[in-house]
Amino acid sequence: MNVLIVGGGAREHALAWKLKQSPRIGELFVAPGNAGTATIARNLDIAANDIERLAAAARARKMGLTIVGPEGALADGIVDLFHEQGLAIVGPTSGAARIESSKVFARDLMRRKGIPAAAGVVFDSYLAAKGYVESCPAPIVIKADGLAAGKGVVVAQSRGQALQALKDAMETKVFGASGEKVIVEECLSGREVSLLAFTDGATVTPMVPACDHKRVFAGDQGPNTGGMGSFSPPRFFDASLTRTVVRTILEPAIAGMAEAGTPFAGVLYAGLMLTEEGPKVLEFNARFGDPEAQAILPRLKTDLLEICLAIARKRLASVEIEWSPDPCVGVVLASGGYPGNYEKGFPIFGLEKTDPDVLVFHAGTRVAPDKGVVTDGGRVLTVAAMGHNMAEARRKVYDNIPRINFSGCHYRKDIALAEVD
Ligand code: AMP
Ligand code: GLY
Repeated sequence: MNVLIVGGGAREHALAWKLKQSPRIGELFVAPGNAGTATIARNLDIAANDIERLAAAARARKMGLTIVGPEGALADGIVDLFHEQGLAIVGPTSGAARIESSKVFARDLMRRKGIPAAAGVVFDSYLAAKGYVESCPAPIVIKADGLAAGKGVVVAQSRGQALQALKDAMETKVFGASGEKVIVEECLSGREVSLLAFTDGATVTPMVPACDHKRVFAGDQGPNTGGMGSFSPPRFFDASLTRTVVRTILEPAIAGMAEAGTPFAGVLYAGLMLTEEGPKVLEFNARFGDPEAQAILPRLKTDLLEICLAIARKRLASVEIEWSPDPCVGVVLASGGYPGNYEKGFPIFGLEKTDPDVLVFHAGTRVAPDKGVVTDGGRVLTVAAMGHNMAEARRKVYDNIPRINFSGCHYRKDIALAEVD
């Protein structure tokens, strides 16, 4: 079966690497892909949000299935378009992807279903929001309603910072239409963790839990990024907690989506805070996380293509999903300056020097004539490894990273460190 993966990050490289192991895979395509996906699949020069051309490519190349990485294409209706054209695809429709693309929609869903989340109030007027924030004690969380490339949430440590965040979103409109509505939310404290699940709209099968590290520097210092590393599983997250999250959060969410006339199929990602009162939702995403996917997919023993086909055919209940007990760690190598401005086009050296059991998932990379593989984005690579325990997985990753180099390369040295002391 020919399969198309939409996207070009390390998450999509990890998806391609896993799908490639399926005995049923025919030709594998990635659009637009990167230098890493080019070594195991055929890259198509089509942007991830060019959904019309993606549908045309799926028809022309007789794709049996398309799998979507990034949220933008989902929100733009790639799944709706493929369904209209009779093309098989895994992921939520644009209406269902609102669970990620509208935090107000997600809040309404959680309220209807009694899903535990931070208390919050929605505003569409700047003055009303400002008045409310002036009456709230800090810390306080300000969230833009719509997609904002991971920058729409400010955890404000002071009232002044909260007011500035409100002004940025609602007056200066730094997120455009995404900031027309804002949620002012209670600040939760606890450990942060993600539990993702496969779902066909009825059955919900959880994956293994994972954590990501969002801040750019060790010790959770510096600005937020798309994610600087991840690991699975966090040691405090046991099977009983998974059952609790499935029962109190994931299953009610999927049931509520169906009741609202927007059934959700694909991968549902619950970003959670483990508070003293139990797990509460910070956000839902409508897709695999990046870099979570790079630490979760290596642990998956079941054929990912079988799982995806079962989702597309609404028979996920018939698939037994197995995971390796061995933990996995993934560390992101980023361009100098990221998440701020950075230069691209630096040659990447030493990619051939890593050990065979170490995974190097590419993100912002491309092949340049004469230069070989060069940097082409902020997050450049995720280096991942499994081990019999977390310490061994970390050791493998951190032993291998120094063999790879490019000008300006930086990475966090403390990914999953708190899991091993
Ligand atoms: P998001 O962009 O929705 O993933 O949010 C970014 C980050 O903001 C999350 O990973 C949390 O660390 C933090 N966050 C979001 N909502 C809250 C909240 N209510 N209380 C504390 N931290 C939060
Ligand atoms: N790692 C968080 C996300 O993919 O949104």
